[in-house]
Amino acid sequence: MTQDELKKAVGWSALKFVEPGTIVGVGTGSTASHFIDALASIKDQIVGAVSSSKASTEKLTSYGIEVFDCNEVDSLSVYVDGADEINYHMQMIKGGGAALTREKIVSAIAKKFVCIVDESKVVDVLGQFPLPIEVIPMARSYVARELFKMGARPIYRQGVVTDNGNVILDVHDLIISEPIALENKINSIAGVVTVGLFANRKADVALVGYADGVKELHAR
Ligand code: 5RP
Repeated sequence: MTQDELKKAVGWSALKFVEPGTIVGVGTGSTASHFIDALASIKDQIVGAVSSSKASTEKLTSYGIEVFDCNEVDSLSVYVDGADEINYHMQMIKGGGAALTREKIVSAIAKKFVCIVDESKVVDVLGQFPLPIEVIPMARSYVARELFKMGARPIYRQGVVTDNGNVILDVHDLIISEPIALENKINSIAGVVTVGLFANRKADVALVGYADGVKELHAR
């Protein structure tokens, strides 16, 4: 199976977590895009969606799924999204698609976070994938210097502007042995909007696509 076929399999299998009559939290990326295709097949059974990016909003809308403003919704029963890496504690690196801040906001109001990934994303220790950080443009150099002091190697993602009008620094050479502490530390640097570490709000369950089928993983 190709990686995209594995992504499709997990995207469709996430449908089982969607409760009829609810508003569904929807992530961003190629795996989440498969989930949107799946969601469209049951669109008459749901009230609508809260989206984590302009790209996902566009796709949901093209299917005729109503997209609600996050401010209109107190709580979601489920948020479904991909990840760039996930460990066995269900902590993740996200933001490869630059949607990390909205993903963090929408997942924060969800009772359950269902992470959908192919097997290549499951790791013992987070950090092989460069850690994305959304930064206010005027703080880019300052934040980069603070990260250098921490022994990290931030690289400016050229040409990318987030849906919120900010920029992305991708941090290389990190071995993330304490994800919660690092998430809190990076988030406290002035000018950082969000770090793409999802350790405080981790996934509740991961659907992982393997060649022999989709497996459900829970935190160890
Ligand atoms: C976007 C994300 C995505 O979930 C992550 O990059 C995974 O993407 P894909 O499903 O395309 O592999 O965090 O900001």
